Amino acid sequence: MTAVTVRRLEIRAFGGPEVVRLVEDAALPEPGPGEVRIRVEASSLVFTDVLIRRNLYPVLKPTLPVTLGYDLVGRIDGVGPGVTGWRSGDRVADLVQVGGNATHVVRPAATLVEVPQHLDATRVEPLILSYLTAYQALFREAEAKPGDAVLVYGASGAVGQAALDLCRAFGLRAVGVASARREEAVTGLGATFVAYDEPDAAGRLDRLASERHGFKVIVDAARGEALGAVLARLAPGGRLVALGFSAPFRAAGRAGHARPGLLALLRLGLDFLRIKWLSSRPGASGRVAFYDIADRRARHPDWFRSDLAALFTLLDDGAIAPRVQRVFALDEAVEAHRLIEAGEVEGRLVLDPGLPMGAAAVDALRAASPQAAAPPRRTTG
Ligand SMILES: NC(=O)c1ccc[n+]([C@@H]2O[C@H](COP(=O)([O-])OP(=O)(O)OC[C@H]3O[C@@H](n4cnc5c(N)ncnc54)[C@H](OP(=O)(O)O)[C@@H]3O)[C@@H](O)[C@H]2O)c1
Repeated sequence: MTAVTVRRLEIRAFGGPEVVRLVEDAALPEPGPGEVRIRVEASSLVFTDVLIRRNLYPVLKPTLPVTLGYDLVGRIDGVGPGVTGWRSGDRVADLVQVGGNATHVVRPAATLVEVPQHLDATRVEPLILSYLTAYQALFREAEAKPGDAVLVYGASGAVGQAALDLCRAFGLRAVGVASARREEAVTGLGATFVAYDEPDAAGRLDRLASERHGFKVIVDAARGEALGAVLARLAPGGRLVALGFSAPFRAAGRAGHARPGLLALLRLGLDFLRIKWLSSRPGASGRVAFYDIADRRARHPDWFRSDLAALFTLLDDGAIAPRVQRVFALDEAVEAHRLIEAGEVEGRLVLDPGLPMGAAAVDALRAASPQAAAPPRRTTG
């Protein structure tokens, strides 16, 4: 019988896509008290994983070596002592921040959310980080209601596409901002499109804001425009939910750099501090919220569960449809990271750690750890 091993995507140094290494552990980890082992069916390949790989994620500074992967969906295949309510075969989702890009993980049983057995894992996975972020930004932070005017920065990306899909499902009137080449990705979800790289982008956004008497909700996953200009487009009583900052990274990429320069990072840091400061002063107007999914889950684990369950139902009913551009095997992860960093993704990429790998990757694992690597399950070429 072939031994079951753990394959995972590890980094031992922060840096570009090339630091992502496929490694193999000879033995499965055993769950301890209160823990379960999960065989992972799908995990994240998103811009947040790229930020963590570059050690530029502001709310998490991992210790190396570390396994990447912000979330996961999978099936329990080992139950530790003292665990009640879960058994082998149960389908679960979790937000792990790091560690999800693996064939198997051990997790505390208490943090898991049940996933309906019949849903496709590669369509469930985008719901955990990307859709839940958009959902909670719209409905928990900004309390959006049907008919509200919503502006989404970063509209062709993982969170932005989720936000537009949810706007469509809940009857919100969305305007989406992305680069000119992404028009179809935005209008295809029923939103009005504005290209941030067109000459009069700011003027068009001002006009769209004034036609709508201001936006009731602004979801900002990009942080490309000056904060004052964005706030000026809010309706009275409206709310800006700031949650990401892909813009300086895209700008660096367009200029041929792997990452933003020192000045851009400094600006970003100041912007981040200002948003956090504004969001900590609800008395000042409550117009700005800084959203961080891990922080929200720690404060409201009940929301995490109920909102994810609501998203599973929406998916099951066909009310939302996560856009998955491609599903990757473990040995294709470096390519996935390159595509994300180059801005070549519309919607989501997903990792399926159970997908067969190429013979070259299996040979490399065997050379690194002869007792661990299994024979190849497919050939390439
Ligand atoms: N706070 C949280 O809990 C949380 C949760 C999830 C994600 N995030 C963060 O949210 C951000 C976006 O994540 P993601 O996974 O959606 O990234 P993504 O898939 O890479 O998407 C980035 C989006 O930003 C757009 N964009 C780039 N520059 C822009 C600009 N100047 N103005 C408007 N849009 C611009 C991109 O458009 P083009 O591709 O057309 O350039 C793309 O639509 C990241 O910083 C991520 O870390 C935060």
